[in-house]
Amino acid sequence: MGRIPAVAAAVIVALLVCCSCGVRGKEDDDVLDSLVDFLTKLAGGDQKTAGDFGWDASTDPCDGTGGRNGSDSKWGGTVKCFENGASNAGLIKVIDLQSLGLSGTIDAELLCAAPALRVVSLQNNTLRGGLPAGVSACSGLTHLYVDRNQLSGALPSSLGNLRKLHVLDVSRNDFSGEIPAGLSGVRGLIRFNANDNHLQGTIPDFDLDKFETFNVSNNNLTGPIPKKTGRFRDDSYAANAAGMCGEPVFSPCPSGESKSKKMRRILMYLGYVLLGAVIVAFVVYKLCSRKRNKLGKKAMVGKDMFDSSNPTTTTTSKSASAYSLPASAERSPARKGAASTSLVVLRRSGTASVTSTAAAAAAKDLRFEDLLKSPAELLGRGRYGSSYKVAVPGGAALAVKRVKDASVSDDEFRRRMERVARARHPAVLPPLAFYCAAQEKLVVYEFQSNGSLHRLLHGSIESSQAPLDWPARLHIATKVADGMAFLHAAMRGDGASSYASSTSSSIDSAAAAEGAIAHGALKSTNILFTAGMEPCISEYGVVAPPLAAAVGSSRSSGLRADVRAFGVLLLELLTGKATAAQGDGAELARWVTSVIQEEWTAEVFDRALLSRDGVSEQRMVRLLQVAMRCIDASPGEVPPTMREVAGMINAIREEDDRSVSMEA
Ligand SMILES: *[C@@H]1O[C@H](CO)[C@@H](O)[C@H](O)[C@H]1NC(C)=O
Ligand SMILES: *[C@@H]1O[C@H](CO)[C@@H](O)[C@H](O)[C@H]1NC(C)=O
Ligand SMILES: *[C@@H]1O[C@H](CO)[C@@H](O)[C@H](O)[C@H]1NC(C)=O
Ligand SMILES: *[C@@H]1O[C@H](CO)[C@@H](O)[C@H](O)[C@H]1NC(C)=O
Repeated sequence: MGRIPAVAAAVIVALLVCCSCGVRGKEDDDVLDSLVDFLTKLAGGDQKTAGDFGWDASTDPCDGTGGRNGSDSKWGGTVKCFENGASNAGLIKVIDLQSLGLSGTIDAELLCAAPALRVVSLQNNTLRGGLPAGVSACSGLTHLYVDRNQLSGALPSSLGNLRKLHVLDVSRNDFSGEIPAGLSGVRGLIRFNANDNHLQGTIPDFDLDKFETFNVSNNNLTGPIPKKTGRFRDDSYAANAAGMCGEPVFSPCPSGESKSKKMRRILMYLGYVLLGAVIVAFVVYKLCSRKRNKLGKKAMVGKDMFDSSNPTTTTTSKSASAYSLPASAERSPARKGAASTSLVVLRRSGTASVTSTAAAAAAKDLRFEDLLKSPAELLGRGRYGSSYKVAVPGGAALAVKRVKDASVSDDEFRRRMERVARARHPAVLPPLAFYCAAQEKLVVYEFQSNGSLHRLLHGSIESSQAPLDWPARLHIATKVADGMAFLHAAMRGDGASSYASSTSSSIDSAAAAEGAIAHGALKSTNILFTAGMEPCISEYGVVAPPLAAAVGSSRSSGLRADVRAFGVLLLELLTGKATAAQGDGAELARWVTSVIQEEWTAEVFDRALLSRDGVSEQRMVRLLQVAMRCIDASPGEVPPTMREVAGMINAIREEDDRSVSMEA
C-alpha cells in the first residue's frame, strides 16, 4: 500500500534533480571519487596527499569557481570549471598539477571519468610508468602536458583519437618507440613537443605550416622531416643520433633514383628557377613603375600648391628626391615667402615635456622649405598618411606626419593642433609645429629614435632587446592609459575645469563632449619610446575619428573609439600578437574571445610573459578583463571612460608592485 506513493515520490525527486542539473551541472560523486583516486595514484599511493590538496569528494570543486573573477577552487593545485552560462557549467575544465613533486603513475581511466575535461597538465613532476592508452577517453582534451617527468614506454597510438587536441607536450621524459602516426591527422594540433626522449622511427607527415611550436630534438629519429616544414629549422630536429634528412632544412634524403630520373629532376628545378626569375623581374618592374607614378603624383601636389602659375612644368622627378617631402618646391622660389609664413610653430612653454630642447630649438626657426629641402626618410605609411624622418639644419631630427585626411577643415585642424599642443602630459608627445594648406597638412614632432611599441612587440628579433616582460608591459599600459585619460579630460570643453566634471551626469558630459577631440588613430605604431624608454602617445588628434551615424554624437563616439582602440592595444600587449595591418583589431578581439570561451585563459597570453616564474597570471587575467570591457561593452552596458580605465589599470599596477615587494 505504501509502495506506490514511495515510488512516485522517488520519481518526482529524480525529476526535480534532473531539472536543476539542466540549469547548472555538477560533477557526479563517482567522478569526484575517481579524481581523488587519480590524485592518490599520482602521489604514488599516498592516501594523505589528496586530503592535503583539499581534494575531497564531499566538496564540490566547482562551487564558486570559474567565475570571471578567477577565484580558486577548494580543490588544490589548479582546478578550474566551466563558467555559469557555458554548456558545461559546473563541470571541471582544467586540472593543472604541475611542479608538485608527484612521483606516482597516471591512471587515465580515473582521470577521464571527468566528462568535460579540456586541459590537463602534469608537467614537471617525477611521474613514472607510461602514458596509458586510456587517455583517449578524455575526448574533449585540447591541452595535454606531461612533459618533464620520468615517463617511459611507447606513446599510445590512441593519442591520434584526441581529435580536439591543440597542444601535446611529452618532452623530457624517457619515452621510446615511435611517434604515433595518427597525430598527423589531428587537424587542430599546433604545438607538439617531444624533445629529449628516446623516440625512434620517422616523423609522421605533420603539416607544420600551421604549427606554432614543434620540437623533436634529442631523440633517435631518422629523416625525412615533414614536407611542409613551416618555420621550423635545425633546432627542432637537432641531435637525433641516426640523423635527419629532407629539404630545405637538411640535405635531401638519399633515394634510389636512377641517373636519368635525377637529370629530369634537375631540369625541372631549373625550369622552376627560370620561372621564378621571370616573376621576380616582373614584380620588381611593377614596383618600380608604381613608385615612379607615386612620385609623379607627389610632385603634382607640390606644383599645385606652389607653382600654379606654370601649369606646363613637367613632373618627371629625379631619383635624388625619392624620399623627400613634396618635391617640387625648390623649383618655385617665387612662392617661398608665402610658404614659410604658413608653417605654424607652436608656442613652447618650459613645462614638463618629453621633447628635448634641441628639437624644440630646431622647430622654432623652422620654415616650410627647410622641411622640403632636408633629407627625408620614409618611416611608415598608414591609412591616414605617411611619416618621414627629416634631419633639419642644426642636426636635430624631426618626424613629419603628412596627413591624408580630407574630412577636417583647415580651421578645425589649426584649432585642434593648438589645443593639443597646449595640453602637456609626460606620456604625450606634443606637436612642435604644423603646416596647413588646402592640399597639404603636415605635423612636426621630435623624432623618437627608440621606435614604436609595434616594433618592440612585433619587430624582428635582431633589434637585440629582450622581449618585454610583464612589469614593462604593465608600465606601458599604465602610462598610456594615464596620458589618454588626461587628454580626454583636457580635450573636453576647457581642460581642467571639465576634468572634475567628466564623471558627473551624462548630460554634462555630453555638453562638454561638444568640443572633445579624440586621438582618432590610437595604435601600437603611435606609441613611441623616448630616449629614456618611456612610452609616449604620438599623433594625437591628427585625424578625425571615423564619422558616427548620428552627427551630434560623433565627437563623444570618437572618445569611445579611442577607448576601444586602447583595448586592442592592451590585447596586443598581453598576447604579443599583432593586429592586421590596416584593420581595427576586430580579428584580434575575436580570436581572444574565442580562446577564452573555449579553452584556457592562459593560452591567450604571450609566451614571453608566462615563461618567467612567479609572474602573476591573476593580474594578467584582470588586465585582460579590462581590455575586454574596453572592446566589447555589450549594448546597454555603459562602456568605461578612459579615466575609469586608467583607474582600473593603476589599481592592477599597485597590486603588482605590492606583490613584487612582498616576494623580494
Ligand atoms: C568571486 O566570485 C565569487 C562568486 O561569484 C565570490 O564569492 C567571491 O568573493 C569572488 N572573489 C573575488 C576575489 O572577488
Ligand atoms: C619544477 O618543479 C620544481 C619543484 O618540484 C620547481 O622548483 C621548479 O621551479 C619547477 N620548474 C619549472 C620550470 O616550472
Ligand atoms: C637508436 O636506434 C638504433 C636502432 O634503430 C639503436 O641501435 C640505437 O641503440 C639507438 N640509440 C639510442 C641512443 O637510443
Ligand atoms: C628543442 O629542444 C632542444 C632540447 O631541449 C632545445 O635545445 C631546442 O632549443 C629546442 N628547439 C626549439 C625550436 O624550441
